[in-house]
Amino acid sequence: MSAQKAEKKVHIKTWGCQMNVYDSERMADVMAPMGYAQTDQIGEADIVILNTCHIREKATEKVFSELGRMRVHKRAKEKAGGKMAFAVAGCVAQAEGAEILRRDKNVDMVIGSQAYHQLPEIIADWEKSNGTARIINTDFPAEPKFDHLPPAQPRGPSAYIAVQEGCDKFCSFCVVPYTRGSEYSRPAADIIAEIKTQISYGAREVNLLGQNVNAWHGTGTDGKTWNLGTLIFHLAELDGLDRIRYVTSHPNDMHDMLYRAHGEIPQLMPYLHLPIQNGSDKILAAMNRKHTQDDYRRIIDRMRDIRPDMAFSSDFIVGFPGETDADHRETMKIVDYVGYAAAYSFKYSRRPGTPAAKAGKQVLEDIKDIRLQELQKKLYADQTVFNTAKLGMAIPVLFDNRGKRYGQLQGKSPWLQTVNVIAPERLLGQIVDVKITEATQNSLTGEVIPIAPQISSGTHAA
Ligand code: 5AD
Ligand code: SF4
Repeated sequence: MSAQKAEKKVHIKTWGCQMNVYDSERMADVMAPMGYAQTDQIGEADIVILNTCHIREKATEKVFSELGRMRVHKRAKEKAGGKMAFAVAGCVAQAEGAEILRRDKNVDMVIGSQAYHQLPEIIADWEKSNGTARIINTDFPAEPKFDHLPPAQPRGPSAYIAVQEGCDKFCSFCVVPYTRGSEYSRPAADIIAEIKTQISYGAREVNLLGQNVNAWHGTGTDGKTWNLGTLIFHLAELDGLDRIRYVTSHPNDMHDMLYRAHGEIPQLMPYLHLPIQNGSDKILAAMNRKHTQDDYRRIIDRMRDIRPDMAFSSDFIVGFPGETDADHRETMKIVDYVGYAAAYSFKYSRRPGTPAAKAGKQVLEDIKDIRLQELQKKLYADQTVFNTAKLGMAIPVLFDNRGKRYGQLQGKSPWLQTVNVIAPERLLGQIVDVKITEATQNSLTGEVIPIAPQISSGTHAA
């Protein structure tokens, strides 16, 4: 009997946005043919990949603290005669590069956000060196990495698919145009093929991802130029695809076809994540957003005309340089106007290399705290109101996960609310009508509505 070859293990920890979650899944796809299975246990891993976020200072610092905490595992493995590689990937890798190797001697590899398709070569080099090499690859390749990735593994009932990457907007506070590079749209045919594969694995929903997803454009399968709206119209034709979502959109890239899609396509979920960042026109100009609060209101109004049950979410930054109390009141006004279903809110974080970092009038930390508190209080109250309005309603829920409690499944409403239901395992991956019995700020609870038995009408002649 031949001894079975021990499987190698990779542990991937992910910070940041859904694009990073997608990238981590793709890294696992790249490593699977090399014999690396994923593990949740750091101690078992031959390679630990930290897929990192650079958007705010705190996110960056977390990576270095985590590296510090992980050191014991590396030492334990070495004591036992093995090796454990630490790889820093993603946006911190892209932005900090060799600085990471200088700052932490235990890091073996630095892999930028556009270089992870080269993991096989990078890991082979590291293995060849018997674990002594320190490798850095933060290149922006001439050809997009997507062309070099293997077919995706099953992603479950709700699949995330990157359709667009990078950003040319250069908001003055943001590192994304530097860490992710300029805007790139994947070809429609590739996107459709990846979605069809996921449907064949059992996906019922697709989440189209992009830093500026509504800027997606390209040549369609009919040879014509498509925008995101056109793409969604074509995706709606795919058998077995019941739900379509997209994230994140920029107000200046909203287009007629996308509004039309929301009016005409039942599979397109009534939810729009549309960051405004700030309500003050003065701050929006300083942020280089190139839209006003009024432009934003017009988008909300038009969407609500087309789809009255549309839910909105946003990102906010308080305490941008030069922000006064009067500016902050404008942020509170737009929040009040929209009544968001959900939102992310942050204190401005100075990012070296961005234009806003050089601005003179930084806002005091205490004032940022007060403004954030006021904003979040209102956002959380609105979220509670939005959720509570669903009490007693019967809503279709896509069960995409097991719940935290035994016997519970977790799913999503059309408005992206988390719904917890005691339900049999066989409903995982199904869309089921649920009666909502409880609502809190963060989630809903409900009961499966039993399907009425079919009454045969074929036995009596008319
Ligand atoms: N400080 C605080 N928040 C930021 N974001 C981006 N850059 C910064 C920064 N320098 C927020 C924006 C963006 C979200 C992903 O992160 O709100 O939409
Ligand atoms: Fe950053 Fe602005 Fe681009 Fe969004 S649109 S990724 S906030 S630069």
